[in-house]
Amino acid sequence: MNDALAQIRDAALQAMDEAGDPAALKAVEQRYLGKKGELTQQLRSLGSLPAEQRPAFGKAVNELKSELATRLAERETEVKGAVLAAMLSGASFDPTEPGEEFVTGVMHPITRITYELVDLFHGLGFRWLDGPDVELEYYNFDALNTPPDHPSRESQDTFWLDDGNLLRTHTSPVQVRAMERFGAPIQCVVPGRCFRNEAVDASHEHTFYQMEGLMVDREISVAHLIYTMKTCLREILHRDIEVRLRPGFFPFVEPGFELDVNCPFCAGNGCKTCKQSGWIEMLPCGMVHPHVLRSGGLDPDEWTGFAFGLGLQRLVMVRYGISDIRDFTGGDLRFLEQFQTV
Ligand code: DAH
Repeated sequence: MNDALAQIRDAALQAMDEAGDPAALKAVEQRYLGKKGELTQQLRSLGSLPAEQRPAFGKAVNELKSELATRLAERETEVKGAVLAAMLSGASFDPTEPGEEFVTGVMHPITRITYELVDLFHGLGFRWLDGPDVELEYYNFDALNTPPDHPSRESQDTFWLDDGNLLRTHTSPVQVRAMERFGAPIQCVVPGRCFRNEAVDASHEHTFYQMEGLMVDREISVAHLIYTMKTCLREILHRDIEVRLRPGFFPFVEPGFELDVNCPFCAGNGCKTCKQSGWIEMLPCGMVHPHVLRSGGLDPDEWTGFAFGLGLQRLVMVRYGISDIRDFTGGDLRFLEQFQTV
């Protein structure tokens, strides 16, 4: 090792010993081992040496480089340890100080109930299907036994697109799509977004969520419908329930029903929520109309089925006692954060 290298070595080792924190060490590293550091410069001078001295000099520089790198790594460990020890022993360290808050998101209550329902129906042998939000007039109305002049179209006014399609007013169109695609027997649930041209208030939204259910097989009866609905509502509302059926009109079912559950807020005794009746209107349902089976390509003499349309907001509102439907899409995080632990 020549004098110049020996000097660099001494100076570098001393600087490393003196550096008391990681930043100072980094500076030493750059000064001696960096791209523009002193050892690199030494290597650059190689060309000006007589040829016979070059190999020995090159070797010496490389050896020095690796010696300094090893020492540097040792010093880094020492310095980090020293810094940590100083922090832990110093007055500035407070082991009782709370850590940083860990913020997690929460599932929207509609998403959550959708997953719960789909899971529940999966256990009953129903498959989860999806359908388009932008629907053909045919599937939304005609195929569901609702021709253009049918009065019930009026209560399902919606947003029409220039091409003649519409934003679906319910999830029922997927009944016919499902029968066309999969034939019978079939059991499916179809959660999804629906739209209506509504004046928005505490119980009406222009965008809302439903879950359609459909079961078609041989000899399906109202008893199957009642059993399935009772099982579903008992699981979702976490209590034993009673249901009752009232006649209800929907063009795509015959007979059609409104299914009520005994009021969860007053155990059926009568309160403000159930308007003193002891019952809460829960979901419309019925036996699939023969015309609808035919739209789906099935023979009504061979197949029968039931269908239901569960309003998801309504179900969540009954489950948690929420009084305003607009809260769901209002974007107020305080509303959503309440569902953190439920
Ligand atoms: N699609 C109906 C609506 O949104 C609800 C409905 C009623 C669905 C009866 C059904 C049913 O499947 O059987 O008003």
